[in-house]
Amino acid sequence: MAHGLQIRDEQSGYNKNLFCIPKHYEEDLERVFIPHGLILDRTERLARDIMQDMGSHDIVALCVLKGGYKFFADLLDHIKALNQNGDKSVPITVDFVRIKSYCNDSPTGKISFVGEELSTLNGKNVLVVEDIIETGRTMKALLSKIKDKKPRMVKVVSLLVKRTCQSPGYRPDYIGFEIPDKFVVGYALDYNEYFRDLNHICILKENAKEKYRMS
Ligand code: IMP
Repeated sequence: MAHGLQIRDEQSGYNKNLFCIPKHYEEDLERVFIPHGLILDRTERLARDIMQDMGSHDIVALCVLKGGYKFFADLLDHIKALNQNGDKSVPITVDFVRIKSYCNDSPTGKISFVGEELSTLNGKNVLVVEDIIETGRTMKALLSKIKDKKPRMVKVVSLLVKRTCQSPGYRPDYIGFEIPDKFVVGYALDYNEYFRDLNHICILKENAKEKYRMS
């Protein structure tokens, strides 16, 4: 079974004043939870693990938008570096699917897919690249759509997996970090579209949830 880097419940992260934070978010953030450099270091190792398992056939890397775009770009950079510097290499093509399931800091109960075709996945080795898995409902819905396209193989990598009592036990094939049940933003993860433009993964202040709340 895949294991990510465990961040324990009592770990609260780092003093935000010791990091560079955009001025417009300074008042909104409690702590830096996972610094950008640590995300990149862990991503480099995920790229190596993925290529060890999937590196003998062409890969279609499927980015789950919008939250997955930073992780996707950095993961693919590391995979490209392995392709450039190793004894063997495989062609990687990319595809994108956009999913919306959250409003404020809670699931809406409805999972909507925007503008997806996914016809490129037929007969291919597919690597699904996701930002965060909480209950696993979103990923299960996406995987059932992908399987309709009859891919040769599907693997899922998620940067974050949240430990939550609501989880029906879905675990991706590769995990960056396993985190406590807290709402996190940054590195393309959003709260009502804000905070994607923040490099570190951070914990929001309660009053920021009010400030950016959608009715
Ligand atoms: P699941 O379907 O419960 O696994 O939820 C996964 C989706 O919920 C992700 O793709 C995100 O869009 C969203 N999500 C869950 N937790 C967070 C969070 O802490 N920050 C930002 N988005 C989150």
